[in-house]
Amino acid sequence: MYKIQMLNKIANCGLELLPAENYEICNEEVNPDGILVRSANMLEMELPKNLKAIARAGAGVNNIPIEKCTERGIVVFNTPGANSTGVKELVIASLLLASRKITKGIEWAQTLKGKGDEVPKLVEKGKSQFEGPELMNKKIGVIGLGAIGVMVANDCISLGMEVMGYDPYISVKAAWGLSSSVIRATSLDHLLSTCDYITIHVPLTNETKNTLNKEKFEIMKKGIRIINLARGGLICNKDLLEAIDNGTVACYVTDFPEDELLGIDEIIAIPHLGASTPESEENCAVMAVNQMRDYLETGM
Ligand code: MLT
Repeated sequence: MYKIQMLNKIANCGLELLPAENYEICNEEVNPDGILVRSANMLEMELPKNLKAIARAGAGVNNIPIEKCTERGIVVFNTPGANSTGVKELVIASLLLASRKITKGIEWAQTLKGKGDEVPKLVEKGKSQFEGPELMNKKIGVIGLGAIGVMVANDCISLGMEVMGYDPYISVKAAWGLSSSVIRATSLDHLLSTCDYITIHVPLTNETKNTLNKEKFEIMKKGIRIINLARGGLICNKDLLEAIDNGTVACYVTDFPEDELLGIDEIIAIPHLGASTPESEENCAVMAVNQMRDYLETGM
């Protein structure tokens, strides 16, 4: 009998892959063989004695103590690609939110409640304050050319955008090959100084922390719009706020709200909804459970 501790609820179709005759699923610590986790918990606890594997239903593993796991020989699985479509679709929505002042416009329209027959007239009079640019013919820089970055790039092409790409783990030459003709691979600095939009899709590691900092904001094109559905720590908040104040950044869309980012006109904060679709949750749950089960049962 294997004991699995489920730190966060995962989709039932994943749990159904753990038959009750071989698996006991618990929500509290019982010296488990395996832990299933999503993004809501930082794994800060003492790693249980019997623990052999941790499966993260999602891509980011920044909530898991990888070094400690490696020292103990505990295998960590994640589910790259399983929620890429969910995240990619929210990136496209974010690009439009960053451009078209949709959120502000929607909030304002609600304030007209109670104005009766005047509403259509007030709409026509007030709407010019919510004007924003089209995406067509604008340049977007995709930082991180993994599953999500490449999908985003392809969709941006169909929106009529010019796509430049950079990946901290792939040379510019290799990136050209990887992305065929869709993405013009370049250096990070060239991308930042020429693009109207940036979207970031790299994992949060010691090397990628604060990828966008003061030095990088200083070379960005004025009025840039930045989308970050990857991780908050990739951008230095203090330097971002300064870049908003001095007009470098026209809009920042983040899926990782933090107190200092709220209540600012130029920041759109989404409550970590990138992978919040039933399809993504099911894909992640199935992939995470399959990996853990195979490893516990076969050692592979
Ligand atoms: C991921 O890391 O896969 C996404 O941020 C979604 C999630 O954390 O569930």
